[in-house]
Amino acid sequence: MMDTINIAIIGMGTVGQGVAIMLLKQSELLEKQLGYKLVLKRILEKFYDKQLDFDRGGIPISGEWQDVLGDPDIHIVVETMGGIEPAKTFITEALRSGKHVVTANKDLLALHGQELFAVAKESGADLYFEASVGGAIPILYSLRQNLTSDPIQEVMGIVNGTTNYILTRMADEGGDFSAILADAQRLGYAEVNPASDVEGTDSGRKAAILSSLAFHSQVTLDDVYIQGITEITREDILFAEQMGYAIKLLAICKETAGGIEARVHPTLLPKSHPLSTVQDTFNAIFVKGGHFGEVMLYGRGAGRFPTACAILGDVAEIVRNIRFNCSGRLTRVYGREKGIVPIDDVETRFFMRLLLADMPGVLAVVTKALSKYNVSLETVNQMDLIEGDAELVFVTHLVREGDMRRALEEIGRLEVTKKIVTVLRVEGV
Ligand code: HSE
Repeated sequence: MMDTINIAIIGMGTVGQGVAIMLLKQSELLEKQLGYKLVLKRILEKFYDKQLDFDRGGIPISGEWQDVLGDPDIHIVVETMGGIEPAKTFITEALRSGKHVVTANKDLLALHGQELFAVAKESGADLYFEASVGGAIPILYSLRQNLTSDPIQEVMGIVNGTTNYILTRMADEGGDFSAILADAQRLGYAEVNPASDVEGTDSGRKAAILSSLAFHSQVTLDDVYIQGITEITREDILFAEQMGYAIKLLAICKETAGGIEARVHPTLLPKSHPLSTVQDTFNAIFVKGGHFGEVMLYGRGAGRFPTACAILGDVAEIVRNIRFNCSGRLTRVYGREKGIVPIDDVETRFFMRLLLADMPGVLAVVTKALSKYNVSLETVNQMDLIEGDAELVFVTHLVREGDMRRALEEIGRLEVTKKIVTVLRVEGV
């Protein structure tokens, strides 16, 4: 029996270096648990002469993929490059040559996951990806293993730390989105280009990965309805709070009679819902099943070492598979077994702020327009008068999104309507 597992890391960004540091630091702990010595044998980095945050000693670093692919002694490739290409080609070639792969690459998996799993299956190699959703939180492992006997009904998650940080500060300080985003960038909590975080794409990728695993059917980024937090104002947060809700950017994945719902949008959650208490850059994922009930996993969703720990957990699992000769045991390839529910057919509750002329009968006119499209109201609150107009805040009962849209179009045409200020969805009631 061999006693060494050789690893290559491809991509020496923050996370790749974190994996290298952890691997070198914890080699004794890993060896004790796994019965193999894990050796970092090669590093691939496009900028191969870049300054690293650790002493790589004699570990060779190269800018040439062929140096890794062509080394028959590499058992596991850890992909921390990110992006679609060349990561996709490298992962495909590594799997085809019988190397196992661990990746944190949500961009790639959300678009081409099933294609890559098919290559893994054909090759009998493992492709693990725990770090792609929720960083250190073992949500994918839980969905694939612990919760596997019970059909998953719903997965709702705060899966983006940047936006949770911004929304938390907007709620705590009453600040504006753009000022807090600028401050978050200054403090290093938001990227220089924050678009994929604040516009919801990062959460959308994670929603695609979570939905595919939870519901055993292919869901890609293009299937996910996505709305970010750029339009959320301090008043939205304040009024939602006054009515007992927090506003969170959620990835929502549900299986309904009509198919799979996969959507990302700012969402009002009752303060009694456990996800509403998740603050700052933390992530949490809340899962519902008919038999296990409710499970919530909480932790660090990003960052060098939380992500590196998830990656090394996958490495450890692959090593166990090698040891017991059962590589490929968790690889599933899903086709489009279930349809995606179009957003117009999704049923939710809505929170709506309307600026209306302050005159008798105005509420009756609005409720008439709503009832025409089957929108029934749960609560109506009148806020302060703004320059003679009345701000009213409504929360609806469950309504089909398409009906709500048509009702809003009609409300927008009413003479009494000065402005439809905000429309947001409500979950977790
Ligand atoms: N930018 C992400 C976040 C981490 O803010 O959570 C990587 O997915």
